[in-house]
Amino acid sequence: MALVPLKRRRRAPSPPAGPPGPGRFPAVVLCLVEKRMGASRRAFLTQLAQAKGFRVDRAYSAAVTHVVSEQNSGDEVAQWLEQQREECGAGGDPALLDISWFTESMGAGQPVEIESRHRLREALETLAEEAGFSGSEGRSLAFTRAASVLKALPGWLGTLEELGPLPGIGEHSRRVIQDVLEDGVCAEVERVKLSERYQTMKLFTKIFGVGVRTASRWYQEGLRTLLDLQEQNIKLTRQQQAGLRHYNDLNTPVERGEAESIRRVVQEAMQRFLPGASVTLAGGFRRGKPCGHDVDLLLTHPEDGREAGLLSHVVSWLDSQGLILYQHSQENSYGLREGPEPLGGRDVMDRFERCFSIFRLEAQGGPGAARGWKAVRVDLVVAPVSQFPFALLGWTGSRHFERELRRFASHERKMVLNSHALYDTRTSFYPLRPKKKSSSTWAWSMCPLRRETPEPWAWSTCPPQRPLTAQESPLQPQKWPLLPPVLAASRMFPE
Ligand code: CTP
Ligand code: MN
Ligand code: MN
Repeated sequence: MALVPLKRRRRAPSPPAGPPGPGRFPAVVLCLVEKRMGASRRAFLTQLAQAKGFRVDRAYSAAVTHVVSEQNSGDEVAQWLEQQREECGAGGDPALLDISWFTESMGAGQPVEIESRHRLREALETLAEEAGFSGSEGRSLAFTRAASVLKALPGWLGTLEELGPLPGIGEHSRRVIQDVLEDGVCAEVERVKLSERYQTMKLFTKIFGVGVRTASRWYQEGLRTLLDLQEQNIKLTRQQQAGLRHYNDLNTPVERGEAESIRRVVQEAMQRFLPGASVTLAGGFRRGKPCGHDVDLLLTHPEDGREAGLLSHVVSWLDSQGLILYQHSQENSYGLREGPEPLGGRDVMDRFERCFSIFRLEAQGGPGAARGWKAVRVDLVVAPVSQFPFALLGWTGSRHFERELRRFASHERKMVLNSHALYDTRTSFYPLRPKKKSSSTWAWSMCPLRRETPEPWAWSTCPPQRPLTAQESPLQPQKWPLLPPVLAASRMFPE
């Protein structure tokens, strides 16, 4: 009997154990569910996707953006995801997709648009954005909330009825959802997307330093393009000039590897002036997003007060090395005795010393490689270690999550939460403090039974609320768990 030569029977070598490369589509990380698909088909599909330039991870992690399954129901996949999250202790909020999406994407040689759930959220987010452009904060918030609720649904939404009495989705949003489910599009949303005002506002507000008011004024003055701004000699602030100069780079997503490089650069610079100081990557990257619009870094030192003055040294040094293309700094304006009154204007979320900057990052392949560098937006924020837990919580985002968290603290607990402290307005006007000053996970510990899980999105899985025992309470004197389960109803906050 003819034997198959030994060589051919050998298994293909396993992929290297380290983290896989970004692939051709850095915003897409696939993970295939083996159940019902089978190991060999899974291996085949993995190879196929990799050959097309997709990144496919064997094991689930927070980096995964697309989970693909075959012949599983929505509930089964949701259950699988829950289990993976528990096993690896990671969050993440991947799209749960049927094999048809995979097949279509392989055929197209690129990731195709995700069907209805994706389109539903996009429709609501467009309306939220449009309402923001018109200065209707309340309407914008309502659409944002509805989009977040949809995002948190564990499975596919087939009909409006499946939503049931889920909170956070108002009449208008329901109409939009119904239109998209029935017709594939919502006429109102399509009208908005095509409107000249919406398109112009979007273009202008993507300039670093341009908010809704400025963009709206320009629109009313008849300006429509970036070229118009230049040709008509519109007076721009230094920040807007930098924003315009680096428009393309700043609107190209920052990848995690780039964020890590910048974190390291800042860490090394800090060591020169204050050994022991640390830099933590916050913002969307801390929530597990594979890319973002900027890099948010929190600076601190294990001894309270030592961090003062650090930022100006670090920024000057980086500037002298040619690593900074733009920066403006703000001093710390938070007095510890300040008390729980609101921090000020609508957009003032904290008063830490900070620097809004644009870094010149040596290109590591990807966009900007030909030129050798890429402009990247970086927010540097300095927090004394005693306020660090709150700063970390506040700067992890998403914006919507933070807004809801603060609203929950005040409406449901009569407390004031900001990025500096948590005040109990009933018992004391002094901030509640972590027992251990340096515990950076303290702020998370307000979640009653899941205190080992430090990520806000995991709060949604908190069991029903119960009082903590005196030993358990991380707060003095508050003995009641503060924040999470109300958020649970909707699992609505990750971005
Ligand atoms: N933040 C803040 N004060 C500001 C700006 C931001 O407290 N002046 C906090 C917000 O809670 C926000 C988080 O920092 O959610 C990160 O902000 P931002 O970089 O704008 O958003 P990301 O969620 O990181 O999104 P992306 O990945 O696109 O950067
Ligand atoms: Mn960010
Ligand atoms: Mn930011």
